[in-house]
Amino acid sequence: MQQALKYAAEQATRFEQELFDLLKIPSVSTDPAYAPHVQQAAEWVAGQLKVIGVTAEIIPTGRHPIVYGEWMGAGPNAKTVLIYGHYDVQPADKADGWSTDPFEPVVKDGVVYARGATDDKGQFFTHLKAVEAILKTEGTLPVNVKFLIEGEEESGGESLAQYVREHGQRFAADVCIISDGSMPSVDTPTIVYSVRGIVGFEIIVHGPATDLHSGMFGGTVHNPIQALAEIIAQLHHPDGSVNVPGFYDDVVPLSEAERQMIASGGGYTFEQWQQTTGAPADWGEKQYTINERIGARPTLEFTGFAGGYAGQGLKNVIPARAIAKGSARLVANQDPQKTFDQIKAQVERLAPPTVRVEVNYLASGLPAAVDVNHPAMQAAVNAYQHGWGYAPVFKREGGSLPIVADLNNHVGMPVLLVGYGLDTDGIHGPNEHYALSMFHKGIETSIHFLYEVSKL
Ligand code: BES
Ligand code: MN
Ligand code: MN
Repeated sequence: MQQALKYAAEQATRFEQELFDLLKIPSVSTDPAYAPHVQQAAEWVAGQLKVIGVTAEIIPTGRHPIVYGEWMGAGPNAKTVLIYGHYDVQPADKADGWSTDPFEPVVKDGVVYARGATDDKGQFFTHLKAVEAILKTEGTLPVNVKFLIEGEEESGGESLAQYVREHGQRFAADVCIISDGSMPSVDTPTIVYSVRGIVGFEIIVHGPATDLHSGMFGGTVHNPIQALAEIIAQLHHPDGSVNVPGFYDDVVPLSEAERQMIASGGGYTFEQWQQTTGAPADWGEKQYTINERIGARPTLEFTGFAGGYAGQGLKNVIPARAIAKGSARLVANQDPQKTFDQIKAQVERLAPPTVRVEVNYLASGLPAAVDVNHPAMQAAVNAYQHGWGYAPVFKREGGSLPIVADLNNHVGMPVLLVGYGLDTDGIHGPNEHYALSMFHKGIETSIHFLYEVSKL
């Protein structure tokens, strides 16, 4: 193992260059226009797997390919680790507020700026480099490894869920590790023990047959932007709770012990929350703490809102339509389809007869939890302790990772969520970035992890 750590240190600059090559590929999964780049990224990942000595297969799906690879040379009596990651990224446009081109990685003060730098290219790549370092120096690994790197995570794709339902046994392993998360500070490594589910949707409000002169027709037609705003405004109660009948029916109430665990585990202090968000004040269900609202309560968020003209200067038009996109974050035992039906019914109920509304389902993932007392957890704790120099804290995550529930439900193995990012990396936003020191610490931790699993 010492040789592998030494190799990783010596090859640090090359590892960075390889990561930058991957960051240059705009593998945006949600927009079909980027499909060729998503394919290109899949091929790049498969090529890397082959170079480091792992098999590589590009599994086509109805949408974006799954990259699968394995090295089973440790034999049937050794432990097997499944490494999951995603090579797709969120959309990014220079105009969203990026200081540099999101697909032209730039390093400033030891930090690389690019879409996907931390979510998830820079994080999953640590595991490839860990495997390379051990294989190149030892000629063998202490465990068998399987790589499952998908291309639809950021668009809540169905392809992998379906593949896991049908061929999940291919991914069977003693333990799964996922590095696709973050920690509040570099001295607070964090293991996530629950992720929320999600159901994404869009609301389209149709008004007049075409855009109209706002002076000639204003005050006589119900403006779709206004009607949509009126609907959206009614979807929360003044106390911050969601105004959708049935929304909370299947929510498992928080026990005192759970609240205690949230309060004493990882998560934000109020100051960290303020620092990270830059919001003037907190908002939401005040009877729950910020960490409870993020990790253990369901929420409803609007993520996009458009209509009319928002360019330079003035254009007086009543638009024919207005659109909003949103998603509900779910906790056990909420069901995405049922929640979608409830939201759709409520929006239709709230819609005035002066407009026509359309509510469309976009994507979903189930909530999932991990048993913190599973013996395999110790491998992650020890790996962090060695690679990071600090014992990890445990927290519930507000974001979603649909694969966790899919593996729980169809394959069955402990899933360890061991993130190598920082909460302040700006994932999904402009100027997403990743400290190269975190990347290298991640590689070290991933090396330690494989040895720790072999000891279980
Ligand atoms: N890596 C995130 C989820 C995450 C965020 C985990 C922060 C831990 C800390 C993941 O890439 C993500 O963004 N997931 C989407 C899933 C959705 C599109 C189905 C999400 O949460 O919005
Ligand atoms: Mn991610
Ligand atoms: Mn993401």
